[in-house]
Amino acid sequence: MPRPATIAAVKGFRDILPAESQRWRAFERAAGDLFGAYGFGEIRLAVLERTELFARSLGETTDVVEKEMYSFADRDGTSLTLRPEATAGVVRAYLESGLVHRDPAARLWYAGPMFRRERPQKGRYRQFYQIGAEVLGRDDPLADAELLLMLVRYLAVVGASEVRLSLNSLGDAACRPAYRERVRAFGEAHREALCPDCHRRLERNPLRLLDCKVEGCRAVMARAPVMLQSLCAACRAHFDAVCALLDQERVAYVIDPRIVRGLDYYCRTAFEVLASGLGAQNAVAGGGRYDGLVAALGGPDVAGVGFAVGLDRLAAAVEIDGTGSEGPAAVILPLEERAVGPGLALATRLRHAGVHVGLEPAGRSLKALLRTADRQRARLAVILGGDELAAGRATVRDLARREDEPLALALDAPEAELLRRVRRGATV
Ligand code: HAM
Repeated sequence: MPRPATIAAVKGFRDILPAESQRWRAFERAAGDLFGAYGFGEIRLAVLERTELFARSLGETTDVVEKEMYSFADRDGTSLTLRPEATAGVVRAYLESGLVHRDPAARLWYAGPMFRRERPQKGRYRQFYQIGAEVLGRDDPLADAELLLMLVRYLAVVGASEVRLSLNSLGDAACRPAYRERVRAFGEAHREALCPDCHRRLERNPLRLLDCKVEGCRAVMARAPVMLQSLCAACRAHFDAVCALLDQERVAYVIDPRIVRGLDYYCRTAFEVLASGLGAQNAVAGGGRYDGLVAALGGPDVAGVGFAVGLDRLAAAVEIDGTGSEGPAAVILPLEERAVGPGLALATRLRHAGVHVGLEPAGRSLKALLRTADRQRARLAVILGGDELAAGRATVRDLARREDEPLALALDAPEAELLRRVRRGATV
């Protein structure tokens, strides 16, 4: 019979294999621990939402909503979308669950896949992973500063040392309209140098001109006026207070008035964290304040601020430290068929006590079995042959030290004794 063809993953979608996923699990564990200390609880969000949620929150004229969403009509005709980000979903859940009344100052963190139909390249995928945190119900600069402190600490804890935090303020409903008009006027003055998309943006949402990826537009807009110089007194005071708190805690940052962010919901504080050595896709995290979003999604006038870290890029930025490549503490090697049962019993006892133990099938020579154990980078080989079964003791060989002197391990030894022998052998 001809072999059926294999099936490839969808372009821009990939699998995270064990060598990498171990590190990802460590990222999630570190987030749970650190974010917990800052009072955040984990929220496990829906992956699929009504398209309207994103259209209304991220902005109709953003690249994400215009070109990058995986949207489809459900069987009843409802338009659904695989979430391109999680902030909108957090706010939807905050309102829908009643947290907005029970715990208006909710602090929520999440981890999981997001979906954007961008052009795939190194560090940019169509399914990618984020860990994020959102503070709702707080409009004071302390909330921004605490969140940034937590983000910077998080990146340090997981081992991303070569990073740079950049900060900006995007103003608010008081000062942004006048700034938008200045950007529109600037864009009109350079209309002929702008792309057709930007001509549309000029009519509908001129601030999006600042986020165009087309080289010609970027060159023009690099000379456009910046929001930071048009802030109202309240926005200026907020920004200065955030900076002062970061200075007090000795958080390093640079002020970058060119940060605009790719989503429309931001106001006031906006930030990005860039990592060196990642090439073009070097933003490992981004976020900011979104004080109008809860109201835009039908809730009360409640403020919010948050960030998301991109795990695909974080994994690339964190030095390979070998954590993903650790082998088992021991591999049990039955030399003959009747040693398989006792081998499984021993493996089960050790595994249920939390020790990573491998178990090979019988039927190969000791030499071949030891080679297998070596290839798995096991620290100990536990040999079970006829002699061992007769004596009721396994032979334990330290593979790391390449010692021929075998240790004896009684098969019916109590749990604690077994563990002590395996662990001692594994650590000396
Ligand atoms: P964002 O800047 O769109 O913000 O995404 C945050 C991070 O997700 C980026 O800095 C990047 O590391 C990662 N990321 C984004 N797109 C991709 C992709 N195609 N492939 C790989 N990684 C990617 C947000 O999503 C906001 N929801 C953040 C936020 C939370 N703002 C307030 N609260």
